[in-house]
Amino acid sequence: MMKAMIVIDNLNKHFKSGDDIFKVLKGINLQINSGECIVLKGVSGSGKTTLLSIIGGLDRPSSGKVLVEGESISKLPDLHISHFRARKIGMIFQHFNLFDHLTAAENVMIPLIPTGLDMHEVNHKVEVSLKLANIFHKANSAAGRLSGGEKQRVAIARALASNPAIILCDEPTANLDRNNSLKFIDILSQLHEMGKTIVVATHDPLFDTLPFESKIIPMEDGSLVDTFSKDTLAES
Ligand SMILES: Nc1ncnc2c1ncn2[C@@H]1O[C@H](COP(=O)(O)OP(=O)(O)OP(=O)(O)O)[C@@H](O)[C@H]1O
Ligand SMILES: [Mg+2]
Repeated sequence: MMKAMIVIDNLNKHFKSGDDIFKVLKGINLQINSGECIVLKGVSGSGKTTLLSIIGGLDRPSSGKVLVEGESISKLPDLHISHFRARKIGMIFQHFNLFDHLTAAENVMIPLIPTGLDMHEVNHKVEVSLKLANIFHKANSAAGRLSGGEKQRVAIARALASNPAIILCDEPTANLDRNNSLKFIDILSQLHEMGKTIVVATHDPLFDTLPFESKIIPMEDGSLVDTFSKDTLAES
């Protein structure tokens, strides 16, 4: 039996500017099962980042809801959302979002602070995730001094620090060369094998042929494209 990890139910998001309403997400429905890897593909402006932000509880829907393991995150108060995020969700962004003056290890430590673990446990988790992301050898380097690929691996380690069940990646390879992009995909394979639920938003063609099972869902103008019905139409 497939277990639903994330359920997106009739999700809409609009932004108001003056009298205009700009609809960014339009009636999105999607079930993502535990351990699945979903690749959201779509041109710039199709709403990928907005959707990931709402799944991750960084932004709220205008209507509709997102359930994570049956719990409606959009209904939680802010403080609960940050706790929920710290426990369940790791996020990897296009621009890494690291603190350049802190070391790699300190960057990875940050999301563990609200968990109230003791220092010994925190250090252990930091070490485990730096090793998993293949960047332990740079643990004590300032993040600002690392190469793009190395920064990305620190960002991966940070996303893994609290051992979340869900990993959200927004254009994770946009600032990487091909070699580092392939390394990123290797780490993603390992996370998939560990049973993580993964959602990637990208327009990188490397994600069309991942070395593990994944589901590509095209996004167009704020909607998910139903590939199944498109195929059926083409055949009839
Ligand atoms: N806070 C905001 N206020 C107003 N409009 C916004 C806001 N955030 C996003 N938008 C608009 O929503 C649309 C979708 O943006 P989004 O960042 O989700 O697209 P995307 O698919 O991630 O694009 P890209 O591939 O360029 O990252 C864009 O047209 C954007 O201008
Ligand atoms: Mg985006």
